[in-house]
Amino acid sequence: MPFFKSFPFGALCLLGCSFALAESDANLESRQNVLEGWESPSYYPTPLGGWVPEWEEAYAKAHAVVSNMTLAEKVNLTTGTGFFMGPCVGQTGSAERFGIPRLCLQDGPLGVRNTDHATAFPAGITVGATFDKQLMYDRGVAMGEEFRGKGVNIHLGPSVGPLGRKPRGGRNWEGFGMDPSLQGIGSAQTIKGVQSTGVIATVKHLVGNEQELFRMIFPIQPVGFLSKPYSSNIDDRTMHELYLWPFADSVRAGVGSVMMAYNDVNSSSSSQNSELINHLLKDELGFQGFVMTDWFAHQGGVSSALAGLDMAMPGDGAVPLLGTSHWAGELSRSVLNGTVPVERINDMATRIVATWFKLGQDKDFPAPNFSSHTDAETGLIYPGAVVSPIGVVNQYVDVQDDHNTVARAIARDAITLLKNEDNVLPLDSNASLKVFGEDAGPDPQGLNSCADKGCNRGVLTMGWGSGSAKLPYLITPEEGIKAKAPKTEFHITDKFPRDIEADPEDIAIVFINADSGENFITVEGNPGDRTVSDLYAWHHGDELVMDAAEKFSTVVVVVHTVGPIIMEKWIDHPSVKSVLVAHLPGQEAGMIADILFGEHSPSGHLPYTIPRSESDYPESVSLINDPFKKIQDTFTEGLFIDYRHFQRTNTTPRYPFGHGLSYTTFSLTSPRLTPVTPLTEYPPPRPAKGTPPTYPDTIPSASEVSWPEGLTRIWRYLYPYLDNPTSIKPGDDYPYPEGYSTTPKPPPRAGGAEGGNPALWDVAFTVEVTVTNTGAVSGRAVAQLYVELPPQVVPDTPKLQLRQFEKTKVLQPGESEVVRMDITRRDLSVWDVEVQDWKVREVGKGAKLWVGGSVEDLRVVCEIGGECGDA
Ligand code: BGC
Repeated sequence: MPFFKSFPFGALCLLGCSFALAESDANLESRQNVLEGWESPSYYPTPLGGWVPEWEEAYAKAHAVVSNMTLAEKVNLTTGTGFFMGPCVGQTGSAERFGIPRLCLQDGPLGVRNTDHATAFPAGITVGATFDKQLMYDRGVAMGEEFRGKGVNIHLGPSVGPLGRKPRGGRNWEGFGMDPSLQGIGSAQTIKGVQSTGVIATVKHLVGNEQELFRMIFPIQPVGFLSKPYSSNIDDRTMHELYLWPFADSVRAGVGSVMMAYNDVNSSSSSQNSELINHLLKDELGFQGFVMTDWFAHQGGVSSALAGLDMAMPGDGAVPLLGTSHWAGELSRSVLNGTVPVERINDMATRIVATWFKLGQDKDFPAPNFSSHTDAETGLIYPGAVVSPIGVVNQYVDVQDDHNTVARAIARDAITLLKNEDNVLPLDSNASLKVFGEDAGPDPQGLNSCADKGCNRGVLTMGWGSGSAKLPYLITPEEGIKAKAPKTEFHITDKFPRDIEADPEDIAIVFINADSGENFITVEGNPGDRTVSDLYAWHHGDELVMDAAEKFSTVVVVVHTVGPIIMEKWIDHPSVKSVLVAHLPGQEAGMIADILFGEHSPSGHLPYTIPRSESDYPESVSLINDPFKKIQDTFTEGLFIDYRHFQRTNTTPRYPFGHGLSYTTFSLTSPRLTPVTPLTEYPPPRPAKGTPPTYPDTIPSASEVSWPEGLTRIWRYLYPYLDNPTSIKPGDDYPYPEGYSTTPKPPPRAGGAEGGNPALWDVAFTVEVTVTNTGAVSGRAVAQLYVELPPQVVPDTPKLQLRQFEKTKVLQPGESEVVRMDITRRDLSVWDVEVQDWKVREVGKGAKLWVGGSVEDLRVVCEIGGECGDA
């Protein structure tokens, strides 16, 4: 076992980064290569936290504590203590006098990363494919219990950015699908579940991290041209209606923290982008928790503080393990010399402490009992320090409980049946079955044989990177199938055995996959994003299917994939009768057998479109790979990603967004529309802001950040203290950014509560539809509601947009269920860039609410101001 379980992306710097970025640089990073028309505006100052009633009590408690904190204690909470300086992927300093420990931050969105005895849940994309709100919530609760059980204060998930704009993007699978409503609902349900256990959830990455290549600063200078992350250039309407949408849902769900993206947004680095943090997140969306950087994305000390950042992670600047930071002691210095207003450091600390109180972490919250750096029981307490005390670092606490029940339900209910000619599925367990493909079996090199799943061997259970978790065990498809059909013949290899005998009654089941992940690991030439095999299956999977299809007259294909794959080479082959997408099932990959043999009908639906050709996408969503330039990634397709684009260009996909068959059939009948809250053109005026707690704005005494006597310093550990702080004098030469001001802005009219103006969530209409199982076996149906705004009054708007969905219970043949879906004011609005508010044209009149089984399978419709009927 190597000392470090995973090799960090900054590792290159261990080899010599003395020529790396100047640290502790209090100056603003100047913007470079700003694309005309794509400049992020300034928005100052940072709105203070603590102005919504739901957080009043937590803020009052925080105020009582922060009022008595020294500057060192406040800074301690804002700055990570350095990479590898504790058991977790990140940890803050502490304020022990008030019972606030070093807070432990740990990945990731599908389970506790890099530890033992924890569940590897199905990935976000799999959860999205269930279209099941209850399972989304239940997984959140189960994950929360596991993070808490391991002593993690702050869970680094869910992920809703990337949204999935680029089909090749490496990390789309961590989120719930290529649609803002699906992402928003998935995220909100997860957050509510996680936070019900007292663990702080972190929605990430705000915003525009749509490709992995060149996402972050490349820390090795002087190769200056390699050093800049790309700029995601997003217009205001697209920002609100697509990319910010799921973040709004997350804030409304009460998320405690937000992680910024690596990339720039409109040429301003996300973690010091005042428009993104101060304006959109903290003012308009009314976010009351705290904002952290992504790892090593901290690029400016004072500038990020002024822009609204509250926590630097893991504390180091762009380069780990040097023992320098843009904050820590430098933040202390900038408060003492008056550059960073006292109000700002107080607000940072108050936001963090208020969140800690809000989630009840002041009562009986366990300390970390695991190490994400080693499996050994004892080890270095501060591995990054090299010379460190040694102690027990792993207690191997088993946090799995019965969470495999929810993991299994998700793995099963996500499986998506794309095609089933001649009703080949479900299979008879006595049928003559031959299984092909390494993707049906275990990793030949052993469970968890590569760090952070940075390899594609055996069944693909998840993508790679920080969003992965170790498998505590794995039920492979091979094992699942064997348990139900013991006579099955297995060929766990991607090379088709040419000499195999094929009888006419044989059925071949071919497993193939497509992987992607995070940029700090390159797998088989793919630097996170899918660059090598395009959107095709990996490991010559298409050939394997075609070889099987040439030999056998009945072929079932099972695909484990991070996102859309192109199936054109074989999908129309007469032998390929059935195709199942099993997404990324985590440890319970064997659940495929439940579907193959008909114990359950498949009920998953595609959380993205499957195209016929990659050229069917807009060109602007291709990966940009230009190391010699500052990349300008301009979102010229606007609102038209995934199915929105296919519909606009009348491009027939291979399988549309939302598609998913069952072994039974369903009818959707008796649509009913009930008006609930009468609409107005714009929402009613926002509620006034409550009064946040305030503090005196006197600059603290320099002695508050002097090195405490008798402190045993850990080499490279990031402390808030300074040598000789009394020598620091007020500075007056700081080049504050253009537009900098300490006078609060008038509250944005689109704000007013967590998530924005609460009236945006007024239910305008409810739609009820009767779903009946009209087939011969039991099954679950998904009703998807798409809004069509009348094009003559709402130009440049996608024809259909998913806004709601509901999944039925298991319906027996002949059984019905009435599903009810609420449509809010926001669901019928467009973002008015002039007025800066959400606008409903003609009070929604003429808008159509379609309900169906996919975006191309609409069964019933209700027109606002008109009738309901069949589509
Ligand atoms: C990822 C984050 C992750 C963090 C800590 C970064 O590289 O982008 O999603 O939470 O590392 O591991």
